[in-house]
Amino acid sequence: MPVVGDMPANVRGPVQRWTMVRSGVWVAVVAAVMASVLAVGGRAQDAQQQADEADAKSEGTFTVVCGRCHPIDRVTAMRRTRSQWEEVISTMITARNAQVSDEEFDTILHYLSKEYGRVYINRAPAPDMVETLGITETMAGSIVSYRREHGPFADFDALTKVPGIDRDKLEKKRDAIAF
Ligand code: HEC
Repeated sequence: MPVVGDMPANVRGPVQRWTMVRSGVWVAVVAAVMASVLAVGGRAQDAQQQADEADAKSEGTFTVVCGRCHPIDRVTAMRRTRSQWEEVISTMITARNAQVSDEEFDTILHYLSKEYGRVYINRAPAPDMVETLGITETMAGSIVSYRREHGPFADFDALTKVPGIDRDKLEKKRDAIAF
C-alpha cells in the first residue's frame, strides 16, 4: 500500500491521526463561524436596506397625499405627539376633504410620529417613545419604571440618569423630547 511521502507507516500512529482529525475539525469550525458572520452581516445589511426603502416609501406617500393642497413644509413646521398627528390627519379628512386611505393613514401617522414626533417624557406611553425616539422597548420600559419610582424628570440631564440609557442616541432626538 503506498504511504504518503516517505514517512514510515509506523509513524502515522493514532496520535498523529487525531491531530489531523482535530485540525480538520478546527478548519470546519472556523469556516462555519466565518460563514455565519458573513450571513448575519448580510442579513443586517438587508434589514437596514429594507428599513431605508420603507422610510423612503413612507416619505413618498406623505409627500404625495399631504402635499396636494399645501406645501409639506407647512405640515412639518412643528413637532407633534402621535395623538396630535392622528388628530391633524383626521381633521384633514373630515374638515378639509383630504382623500386618505386607511393604509396611507397608518403610513403617514407613523412617518410623522417618527420624523416629526414629540414625546412628553413624563407621560408618554412606552410605544410612543420607541416610535419617536428610536429606542428599544426595553429602554422605554426602563424610562417608564424609573419615572414611576422617582417621579417626573426635571430635564434632559435627569433623563440621562436612567440606568442603561444611551445618551448619544437621545441627544440626537433632543428636540423631540419635552418635559
Ligand atoms: C384636500 C386638501 C388638503 C389635503 C390633501 C391636506 N390638507 Fe392639510 N390643510 C388643508 C387646508 C385647507 C388647511 C388650512 C388652511 C391652511 O393652513 O393652508 C390645512 C392645514 C394643515 C395644517 C396646519 C394646521 C394648523 O393648525 O396650523 C397641517 C398641520 C396640515 N394641514 C396637515 C396635513 C396633513 C398631515 C395632510 C396629509 C394627511 C394634509 N394636511 C392634507 C387642506 C388639505
